[in-house]
Amino acid sequence: MITESAIQSSFEIKHKEASDWINEVVQLCKPDQVQWCDGSKEEYDGLCQKLVDKGTFIRLNPEKRPNSYACFSDPSDVARVEDRTYICSKRKDDAGPTNNWMEPREMKQTLNKLLDGCMKGRTMYVIPFSMGPVGSSISHIGIEITDSEYVVVNMHIMTRVGKRVMDVLGKEGEFVKCLHTVGAPLKDGQKDVLWPTNQTTKYIVHYPEERSIVSYGSGYGGNALLGKKCFALRIASVMAQDEGWLAEHMLILGVESPEKEKSYVAAAFPSACGKTNFAMLIPPKEFKGWKVTTVGDDIAWIKTSKDGSLRAINPEAGYFGVAPGTNEKTNPNAMATISKNSIFTNVAVTPDGDVWWEGMTDQPPKDIIDWHGKKWDPTSGKPAAHPNARFTTPASQCPCIDEDWENPEGVPISAFIFGGRRSTTIPVVYQAPNWAFGVYLASTMGSETTAAAFGEVGKVRRDPFAMLPFCGYHMADYFNHWLQFGRNLQAPPRIFGVNWFLKDENGKFLWPGYGDNFRILKWIFERVRGKAAPIESPIGWMPSYEDIDWRGSEMTKEQFAKIIEIDSEAWKKELLSHAELFERMYDKLPKELIFMRELLLSSLWRSPAKWKLEPETV
Ligand code: OXD
Ligand code: MN
Repeated sequence: MITESAIQSSFEIKHKEASDWINEVVQLCKPDQVQWCDGSKEEYDGLCQKLVDKGTFIRLNPEKRPNSYACFSDPSDVARVEDRTYICSKRKDDAGPTNNWMEPREMKQTLNKLLDGCMKGRTMYVIPFSMGPVGSSISHIGIEITDSEYVVVNMHIMTRVGKRVMDVLGKEGEFVKCLHTVGAPLKDGQKDVLWPTNQTTKYIVHYPEERSIVSYGSGYGGNALLGKKCFALRIASVMAQDEGWLAEHMLILGVESPEKEKSYVAAAFPSACGKTNFAMLIPPKEFKGWKVTTVGDDIAWIKTSKDGSLRAINPEAGYFGVAPGTNEKTNPNAMATISKNSIFTNVAVTPDGDVWWEGMTDQPPKDIIDWHGKKWDPTSGKPAAHPNARFTTPASQCPCIDEDWENPEGVPISAFIFGGRRSTTIPVVYQAPNWAFGVYLASTMGSETTAAAFGEVGKVRRDPFAMLPFCGYHMADYFNHWLQFGRNLQAPPRIFGVNWFLKDENGKFLWPGYGDNFRILKWIFERVRGKAAPIESPIGWMPSYEDIDWRGSEMTKEQFAKIIEIDSEAWKKELLSHAELFERMYDKLPKELIFMRELLLSSLWRSPAKWKLEPETV
């Protein structure tokens, strides 16, 4: 049994609640050693070397990809496990109908049996980490306990780790307890596998009232890097509701004009909608002097400042991005970011010690090793990289990083954008005429599923605010929180809906996307600065063809009319399916949303079968 004095730390632990908790976990999980993490480069390099020695990490060719590693997970451990994710609030009603729930005491009994001795033969690492710049009033602190070296090195990139965090925490500061284990204890002398995991049992459990998390059985991404989805979204959304702020599944970007006017927007997209690409957008070359800068690519914490403005931080310090599809055309900034100091999980490895994934180049290199660690057969019909293969890379390496991305005061937010993957019905852009309308737009957003996210291709999955898998409490209470939050704002940000994924009858995309999305972003920038007058449509405000800057584009007025038209019948069906979503949470649904739906319905009944930019041509 480990005694308190055998716990290794290069700094003094003054926080009693933290050390009591660590001792409790040591008694329960029974690791061989305990090591507090100091966040140093030596610690990072040492643990990467340990992973190389174990055979888990492949050191990539330092000439091609300096200080970088690849690794392959167990095939049973490749993505977040939503069906094993629980919100264990005291009352079932607080978790709501869209979350798995179990009574906390019952869950603890189940977990305690699993946790008993779960770290035998392993080292337990204690990682103090800050979500957001250390010491910022918008940031919050967590301590993750883990028995995975992979988790420690990823947390080094994704968060701010170490003694400086314990200094801010002081003797009695608040922190979120994050306990993680791969759930694979080692018997005496048993050799470890390359990717320890529990192939049969996984639990990702949140206790919102206690602000604590227990993750058992998985070593992958959001299941194991507990600062990200578990803390920064599920637990933080509950903290935000209690304390009157917002914890959102949003990227944050800045738009700067040649005249150096600058506005920031926060944008929510469900998984697999090109969020990282949008966060690192490069305007078409004709837009000389315009700049898009990145504050964050996945999560935003937003608080009201003393002057009444909304200020946002990216709580993360790195990107855990989907690799497949990322290339020099779709996201040159991401490609530059991952050129060094990065970890690649479930990508393919080339014979010269570099990485590859589907979509990186048109032709795969010869003789590559696939994500199973085997020689890849290009004729097998199987991808070389897993569709959810990831890079973990420091945000500071992003060429378009915003100069204020680590500003402890955050950046001011002028607009919210909500987008999904929809091949029909939802126009390329529209603006909500007011806050409540915007909350309706965001509450009812949906996205067609892709192979990478959920298997069943092309079905619309409602994903309110892109938060469905990430909200730590009842979704209808969350809608209410947004409505209330807006009421308290002096100048609420404008709210927009976008859809980059419209297709024609032959399945061809109607909008080029990527850099061209800047044209839409520029209109949004002008709207928040009160410049472009919008046109009223049955579902909100739209740009005219002339309002969009078409320099360098061949899009005609007719083509644009097509991606901005409102098909009344399709929209009536859309509203019907909004009603299905609302029925699931009827008991707590804010009345405003029901009225808003009725308003939209009556507006559609009064509009032509196809509302176009020039209604007289219909
Ligand atoms: C992510 C996700 O990994 O949203 O960011 O699934
Ligand atoms: Mn995400």
